[in-house]
Amino acid sequence: MNAETPISSRDAAVALLEWYREAGIDVLLGEPARDRFAETAAEGAARRAAASGGAARAQPAQRSEGPARPEPPPPPPPAPSAEGASSFPSVRVAVPDDIAVADARERARSAATLDELRAALEDFDGCNLRITAKTTVFGDGPQSAELMFVGEAPGRDEDIAGVPFVGRSGQLLNRMLEAIGLEREAVRVTNTVPWRPPGNRPPTPAETQICLPFVQRQIELVRPKILVCLGSPSAKAILGSSEGIMRIRGRWTEYAFGLEAGQTIAATAMLHPAYLLRQPAQKKLAWRDLLGLKARLSD
Ligand code: URA
Repeated sequence: MNAETPISSRDAAVALLEWYREAGIDVLLGEPARDRFAETAAEGAARRAAASGGAARAQPAQRSEGPARPEPPPPPPPAPSAEGASSFPSVRVAVPDDIAVADARERARSAATLDELRAALEDFDGCNLRITAKTTVFGDGPQSAELMFVGEAPGRDEDIAGVPFVGRSGQLLNRMLEAIGLEREAVRVTNTVPWRPPGNRPPTPAETQICLPFVQRQIELVRPKILVCLGSPSAKAILGSSEGIMRIRGRWTEYAFGLEAGQTIAATAMLHPAYLLRQPAQKKLAWRDLLGLKARLSD
């Protein structure tokens, strides 16, 4: 397009949205439109009323981060955040991490089935990741699966679908499974955190710890024959590994968390499909690990 070509307002809006998306801005933090002019006018009026010291004291100005609408009657304590009035779930945003972890443990432990665990997770508001996520991505696949994969965190496609590993990484995972004669439908798939971190940033250690009891309980309830962690963050969180993925991939260990004494699940780590999409030359290593996995499954 040359500089003389007029651009339609629709094209301009599309170009702006595309520019935001490329910059990593792909979520809204609030649905209601905010009228900043009305907020400023209301704040100015409140300040003038306070300065004039009238008997009828001015109402405090509406919190600047709140939506521009008339003040509701005072809410009962503890008050939800002003954003709670939007279409997002009301979320406790300041739960200390250790309380959130204890709460997550308690809720996860009391779930006796995957359905109960999903419900417990959907009801849990101790992790701030859920504020920006569209859906809770719990897990996919049968409760009786022999093979279970744990990835890191849902991405954009998973957040939209509410199902783990449905985007490009998931499609590669499906092809990897097919290559060793397995169907995705026969496999259980989940992540260390069930909510997409904003802009696909890695989950923080605190977010991972808060969500860990839920994924641990999911492993316990499925109790697969083989557990595979995809990528280093998953291996670190689930298997407690301190070494990098290149050192631990293809090695076998035993997972015992939450299982009865003497019970274990054979566990290993593999390169994450997202990494393989960026580094296709490393697929040869993944192929070796897949063959090891196939041999172990048929033991
Ligand atoms: N990457 C992950 O770790 N998990 C998904 O569900 C998708 C991509």
